[in-house]
Amino acid sequence: MRTMLNESIKKVIDAFHYDAHPMGILVSTLGVLSTFYPKAKEIFNEESRTRQIWRLIAKMPTIAAYAYRHQRGLPYVLPDNDLSYTGNFLNMLFKVTEQKYEPDPVLERALDVLFILHADHEQNCSTSVMRNVGSSQSDPYVAVAGAAAALYGPLHGGANEAVLRMLDHIGSVEKVPNFIEQVKSGEAGRLMGFGHRVYKSYDPRAKLIKEVAHQVFKVTGVNPLLEIAVELERVALEDDYFIERNLYPNVDFYSGIIYQAMGFPTEMFPVLFAIPRASGWLAQWQEMLLDGDQRIARPRQVYMGYDERDVE
Ligand SMILES: CC(C)(COP(=O)(O)OP(=O)(O)OC[C@H]1O[C@@H](n2cnc3c(N)ncnc32)[C@H](O)[C@@H]1OP(=O)(O)O)[C@@H](O)C(=O)NCCC(=O)NCCS
Repeated sequence: MRTMLNESIKKVIDAFHYDAHPMGILVSTLGVLSTFYPKAKEIFNEESRTRQIWRLIAKMPTIAAYAYRHQRGLPYVLPDNDLSYTGNFLNMLFKVTEQKYEPDPVLERALDVLFILHADHEQNCSTSVMRNVGSSQSDPYVAVAGAAAALYGPLHGGANEAVLRMLDHIGSVEKVPNFIEQVKSGEAGRLMGFGHRVYKSYDPRAKLIKEVAHQVFKVTGVNPLLEIAVELERVALEDDYFIERNLYPNVDFYSGIIYQAMGFPTEMFPVLFAIPRASGWLAQWQEMLLDGDQRIARPRQVYMGYDERDVE
């Protein structure tokens, strides 16, 4: 329920240029939603707060799918509330002329797994932004827009896209050993999709996503980049450089290959991250609001500039 968008919001999406980045559309549309639901400002009213949380989680896939279809000049597809959360998302993305869209159960399940694994991950950059904006008691729509803006950056939501670019650049399995040597000598930059600030062992999310990749490829056909990724992982995990530094595949190593095989263009990847992460952002926002000790976020700045300056 609450999956539909007001017709005027569709006009907002229509106003974007055909090649607008879907993340730009998502961030802006989330801000626009704030103007449609003035009651959202009652953030200490439990009933209103719960309503806004459901509404935001329900509408994220709709906005994302409409951003995708707008780029292609395709008509928007109404949500089908008989389908699951991810089944309905696939419906709004890919339905053409059929009466009733039947999502492929393997792809539906794959998106479910990916969405669950991306739902929350403690104080990452976008979640901290959600808490910062929310701490001034703004409504949740603008706070989620701010969090999504943080996710837009390549250092946060863009790593899986960087993995795809790297695999493309490597080009074939035979070139993997040479590429690993270039990473070690600093010539090729970092091995994207490897290493994590917190996980110093195999990222448990990566293990599950690798399994999902094999299931998805049975439906979509194998993404040729998978072979390179598997070989890259094998060679790196046997190499002293990576062993000594505790570098293992992270959540981004296989997710981009799956999304590409499912037919998503790379600019949709951060949007696919934002949809499930909205539930994490909102859970963290609510937890913050209900914490009696919470005050407005206000980091202290230590001035280290000039003591005194002569000015004319
Ligand atoms: C995720 C990341 C930023 C975590 O960094 P971190 O925990 O701060 O680790 P550091 O930057 O301190 O690196 C520690 C050592 O490992 C090396 N290293 C870390 N990640 C590496 C990678 N992906 N490829 C090659 N070397 C890497 C560093 O060069 C450093 O080596 P040194 O001790 O010889 O200088 C980092 O691993 C990285 O840049 N990974 C690639 C990008 C990526 O996949 N991001 C998505 C994260 S979910």
